[in-house]
Amino acid sequence: MTHTENQAQPISLKDRIAVVTGAARGIGEAISRMLAREGATVVLTARNREQLEAVKSEIEKHSGRAVVLPCDLTDPASVEALGKSVTAQFGRCDVLVNNAGVGLLGKPLVDCTPEEWDRILQTNLRGPFLVIRALAPMMIAARSGYIVNISSLAGRNPLPNGAAYAASKWGLNGLTYSLAEELRQYGIRVTAIAPGSVNTHFSASANPGTGKGMWQEKAPSKMLQPDDVAATVLHVITQPANAFVSEVLMRPTVKP
Ligand SMILES: NC(=O)c1ccc[n+]([C@@H]2O[C@H](COP(=O)([O-])OP(=O)(O)OC[C@H]3O[C@@H](n4cnc5c(N)ncnc54)[C@H](OP(=O)(O)O)[C@@H]3O)[C@@H](O)[C@H]2O)c1
Repeated sequence: MTHTENQAQPISLKDRIAVVTGAARGIGEAISRMLAREGATVVLTARNREQLEAVKSEIEKHSGRAVVLPCDLTDPASVEALGKSVTAQFGRCDVLVNNAGVGLLGKPLVDCTPEEWDRILQTNLRGPFLVIRALAPMMIAARSGYIVNISSLAGRNPLPNGAAYAASKWGLNGLTYSLAEELRQYGIRVTAIAPGSVNTHFSASANPGTGKGMWQEKAPSKMLQPDDVAATVLHVITQPANAFVSEVLMRPTVKP
């Protein structure tokens, strides 16, 4: 086979259904806008309906298509309802981006309460499991699909004073690698994208005690931007049919 024959066309996202968790702001919003720009109908989900409606309006302003389905990832019944709605409305899910996440930074593990631990793990690790459980059966039936899990470099490195968050992302990586092996037989590609610090409100909301971000010292313009992560998602889901990117580690070019 020649090199040219081996080059499959990148997938078109036109008429595809993409579900993005944590679509209300930050990285999830950027990913949702990108997917809509590429022609997908994007299911926007998070807890805050108002913010989701604002993202939907922006997408529609640029002639994209989106629907709002609020969901709380810490509530299994809410995730099940999301799965049922997507199944009833579309009967398919071509791309799932498990992006929603919360942090708890700047707090020694010995000071973390069991409630804080549960909130982090339930959102960042059990949440993706529940969403996959609700939506991946449609991918298996269709023998195709992409699942992209937004992890973190904190899932590769120690994160002192952020151990619960790091544990959730190390766990998400283990889930991702294992699920990729389970699903590749069905033509489903599962990828972890692990960015370093990204210029969103995440860091400040992860440190509610002070309201100050862990990376307040960093120069925002030099940090990774939400659109950088969105561009990587697009790269991952437009691989030739015979290849998949299992993991991407992202760093800013110049240290912020
Ligand atoms: N920013 C960074 O430096 C950075 C670096 C590496 C990895 N990441 C990862 O990237 C992802 C997105 O982060 P971001 O920076 O965009 O954070 P963000 O701006 O705080 O956005 C987080 C999103 O998750 C949603 N969310 C939180 N809890 C939820 C729940 N229980 N159920 C449903 N949705 C929930 C939020 O919406 P609602 O509050 O409306 O629910 C929001 O849309 C996270 O997984 C994070 O760990 C971030």
